[in-house]
This record gives sequence, structure tokens and C-alpha cells, in this order.
Amino acid sequence: MTAPTPPAIAAELSRLLANSHAPYSGVHVAAAVECPDGQIHYGVNVENAAYPQGVCAEASAISSAVTGGQKRLTRVWVASSLPGFIWPCGGCRQKIWEFAEPGCEVVSVAADSASESHTIEALLPLGFRLEPAPR
Ligand code: THU
Repeated sequence: MTAPTPPAIAAELSRLLANSHAPYSGVHVAAAVECPDGQIHYGVNVENAAYPQGVCAEASAISSAVTGGQKRLTRVWVASSLPGFIWPCGGCRQKIWEFAEPGCEVVSVAADSASESHTIEALLPLGFRLEPAPR
């Protein structure tokens, strides 16, 4: 069972949806990443008129963590303006995988703060790493 999302994080994700720049899709997304030191870094999706240049919320949050000197993630939360739960796109799964501690949970938070989670390993089996995989 997924642990409830801390109310402060659910509230901040909800608040940040208004800061998302999504004039093209109309889908507002906010993400948070937790680092081993307990710090939480946030991000929103930032779209661009040159569509492929848009950045997902998870990528924004990871950039914020790395900018803050953190390169390990213990948990990721994602919320959106869509009904129900959303899950990171394939590219963001690989971005999370790069920094995730083993067993890192990716938690989707619905508008009513209900949560569901899966580990990054479940969301991205056999993610790409430069090191040889154990046989
Ligand atoms: N989006 C995210 O921010 N995260 C995801 O995991 C999936 C999609 C954004 C990208 C785009 O700005 C909008 O949602 C619609 O695809």
C-alpha cells in the first residue's frame, strides 16, 4: 500500500501547478524529488513554442536537486491537472533512473491527495546504464 503523501508536499504540488507553463497542451504538471538529506526539490513543466524544447516537471525538479548539489533521489512525487494519476513519461523514467537510490518510489498524487506508487525499477525495467549489467 502506498504511504500517504505528506500534506505539505501535496499542498505545494497543488500550488505549483499554477506556475507550470503549459499554454500548448493545457496539461499542468508539478513534481517533487526527495534527496537523502531530506531536502525536497520542486519543478513544473515548462513548454515552448518549439514543442520539443519543452521540459517535463520531473526533469525540472531533478535539475533543481542537482543544482542544489544533490545527485541521489529517494522518492519522487508527481501531480497534474488531469483527473486521476499520471505517471512519468519514458524519458523522465530514464532521468529518474540516473539518480535513483535502489527502490526509489515514484508516487503519483491525485487532486484529492490520494497516492499510488511504483518503484523506479518497476516503471523502467532494464534502464540504460553505462556500467555493464550484472549477469
Ligand atoms: N509532462 C510532464 O511534465 N511530465 C510527465 O511525466 C509527462 C508529461 C508534461 C509535458 C507537457 O508539457 C505536458 O505534460 C503534456 O504532455
